Parts: sequence; C-alpha cells; structure tokens
Amino acid sequence: MNQVSARSSGRRTTPPRLRAALASIATGLVAIGTTVVLAASASDGTTLGAAAAETGRYFGTAVAVNRLSDSGYVGILNREFTSVTAENEMKWDATEPSPNQFTYASGDKLVSHAEANGMRVRGHALAWHQQQPRWTAVLSGTALRNAMLNHVTQVATHYRGRIHAWNVVNEAFADGGSGGRRDSNLQRTGDDWIEAAFRAARAADPGAKLCYNDYNTDGQNPKSNGVYAMVRDFRARGVPIDCVGFQSHFTAQSPVPADYQANLQRFVDLGVEVQITELDIEGSGSSQADSYSRVVRACLAISRCTGITVSGIRDTDSWRSSATPLLFDGNGTKKPAYASTLDALNAGGTTVPPTPPPTTTPPPTTTPPTTTPPPGDGDCAASVSLNSWSGGFVATVKVTAGPAGLDGWVVNLTLPSDATVTAVWSAQSTGTAGAVSFRSVSYNSAVGAGAGTEFGFQGTGSGPTGTATCARA
Ligand code: XIL
Repeated sequence: MNQVSARSSGRRTTPPRLRAALASIATGLVAIGTTVVLAASASDGTTLGAAAAETGRYFGTAVAVNRLSDSGYVGILNREFTSVTAENEMKWDATEPSPNQFTYASGDKLVSHAEANGMRVRGHALAWHQQQPRWTAVLSGTALRNAMLNHVTQVATHYRGRIHAWNVVNEAFADGGSGGRRDSNLQRTGDDWIEAAFRAARAADPGAKLCYNDYNTDGQNPKSNGVYAMVRDFRARGVPIDCVGFQSHFTAQSPVPADYQANLQRFVDLGVEVQITELDIEGSGSSQADSYSRVVRACLAISRCTGITVSGIRDTDSWRSSATPLLFDGNGTKKPAYASTLDALNAGGTTVPPTPPPTTTPPPTTTPPTTTPPPGDGDCAASVSLNSWSGGFVATVKVTAGPAGLDGWVVNLTLPSDATVTAVWSAQSTGTAGAVSFRSVSYNSAVGAGAGTEFGFQGTGSGPTGTATCARA
C-alpha cells in the first residue's frame, strides 16, 4: 500500500529562518516596485488558522471536552485553530447511552466553545461499528437498522444548523485486498445501511455537509477503490453525500503515500469535497516536519480540499501519544512539524471556491403521522410520518402487524401529482409517481403479532398526505 517513504518523495520546505531573511530582503528590494511580494509576505498568517484562512480553508483539531478546563490547552486551541471535532463526545455511546435516551451535555459544551470563538464544528460520527452503546449489541436486522436511523435523525436534529460537516458514516470498509465492506452489525442489516444513514442525516439537517470518513484510504489501494466506487455510485443515484474525510494516521510503516494528492483529486473529480480529518504522523524532527508539509501541500494543491484537522493539540493529548504524532510537544511548545505546517500553509495554493449561499430551504417540518385504522382483526396497518421541506421530503412508514403476525407485507399509497420517489430503503418499491407500493425485503418481512417494522423513502415534490394501506403479501 504505502511503499514510498515521505522523505524520498518529499520536497524540502525552506527553513523558516532563511525564509524570513529572504522575505525581508525581498521587501527591501521591491520597495519601489510591484506590491505583490510585499502583499505576500505582509499577509503571512502567524497561526495555523490564519494561514489556512488565506486560501479559504480551516485548520482544525480534535478536542477532548474534559481538557477545556486546562488553560494551556485552551490557549493553544483558541489561538491556532478554526475548527473543532469532538474526539469522543458525539459518538453513539456518548450520545445515546440507553435506547432513545440522549445525552448531549459534553457535545453541547464543545459546540458552545466553538461558537463563542468563531470556530466551525465537524460532527463525529453518526454511525460507526465502534464505540456503540452496549444496548445495540443485542440488536440486529430491522431493529438495529431502525435504532441506527433513529440515532442519526435525533443527533443530527439536535445539532441542526450548528454543524459545518458531519462524518455520517465512519470506517465502513474492510482493510486488506477485498475492497469490500467491513463486516459489522450495521453491515449485516443490509448493504443499503450507509445510504439510509446519509438520507436520514440530510432530512434532519439539510444545511450540514455530509461526509464519509475512513482510514487507510489515503492512497490508491483496494480499500480506497471500494470507497471511491461507493461515492461514485451515490453521486450517480442522488444519495446525498457532499464530502469524503481522509483520516491520515501515518506511521513509519505506513507513511504518507506517494499518490496522496492524486488520490484526493480523484475523489474531488467525482463532485465531492475532501478534507483531512484526523491527521497525525508518528515521528519527530525534520522527517516528521517534511511529512506534515507534504500533506498540507497536497491539500492546498486541490481547490476542493477544504480543510485539515489534526487529531489533537499536544503529543500528550494524542490517542497514540507514544508516537509523538502532533504539532506541539507535551509542554505546548511548537515542534519543527508546526513550523513546516505553517510554512506550507503560508506558501499558498489553490483558493477554495466560495461556499454556495446558505440553503434557503426552510427546516423540515414534521407532520403528525397519517394512520390507517388500527389493525384490529386486520392483517396490518401502516402509518406515515413525514419530514418535508420546500421541494422534497423523507417519509418513514411504520408497518404494524395484526394479531396473526406477518410473513411479508405490502404498503400502498398515492403520491400528490408533483411528487416523485427518488430513493427507497428497507423495502422494494413499484412505481415512482401516483400510486406506489412498497413490499417487505428479506430482513423485515417477518413481523410478530402486534409488533412493528419501518421502511422509508425520499422524494422530490410534496410528500404523501392520504392514507397508506397495508396488506399481507
Ligand atoms: C479515538 C479517540 O481519540 C480515543 O480517545 C478513543 O479512546 C478511541 O477513539 N478513528 C476515529 C476516531 O474515527 O474517532 C478514533 O478516536 C481514532 C480512530
């Protein structure tokens, strides 16, 4: 995978002291000439955030909320960084410790800190096979799928309007040569779990950029090829994905790959933005500094590489502190890697195109479910709840079995004339306009007496308002 060492292909950056000397000579030389050189040196950022901002990018860090009481830590955070990612506080185990019981105190603290200091927030992560609460361990199939979709919806709704980008799904692809999905409880709910998560996130927070995030995808290899194929497919089918995050955890054995920039570029060519999301590089001194510089230069060479996040501030804050992989040492002193990073940011690059104007889409409105009469002695009932906005909707349909239970079901409903179904999950559909029907799939056809299951669909136009009927299939 990552055979080429950072040093062998890295271009050396100008040492900061020499650079400063050259800048002052240049300033003197051009005193009566062009102002270009003057402007370039005069505008050099003195912090990571300011230097990145010159090309329209952010420079972020992962933050552990319990460190916000450490003044040394907060001093560096507020001085240097323009974006934060919750290290653990927004993960499933942290935000939903018991089913449908949400705890947002720590995540809220981070968001408030960011807002008070003009920083963006990257949400991490809505759906991941790791750091799940204990209660998901006993769930599978439809129950787990629905729990995941509920989690995505609730958390993204709670933070609606306050998150710049969400890592909607984290680390869903397998390591090694298969290029396929990682086996996990979520994957076993069906291959469409990732797109279902993205649709639920879009419905809950239409203003957030929605990203897929993974590691060992930093160069072209079977795993990144798998992610690439998924993103291409999502873009082709209109699954709402806006960005791909590259964690970029590098070690001596797995250095910055030679094709790092080319790999970022091929994703951008699919129409998504890319970001470096958890950058840390094992090592010290000039070799570490060179590797940081290479990563920064690769991002700055690509106009839609919109930001870089390191996975902590001081080496002692790192989740792998023995690798001393960050930009500040344990005392908060800037390392050579800090200087090379700042230098690379100040060397400039492509400018991020202006962000499209904020969406004029009003926040989704939730309408009370339209329900068929309770099953009584019938086979089943269907109730539809609708998240709709101007121009589109997501419908979640609950199927409740009658006293005999079900071994397959079909739900029929009629859409308004302006509506078209664009995506369906956890059901097989017939028709995309007018009268449409949705049939159970293998993992949700069996429903016990009085029990329920859910499926969903997304569409353009206005959502269904009439009655949905349910019958045994
Ligand atoms: C790590 C955190 O930094 C640790 O504090 C925690 O104990 C384990 O998770 N990929 C990710 C990150 O997406 O969320 C992980 O963070 C590291 C690997």
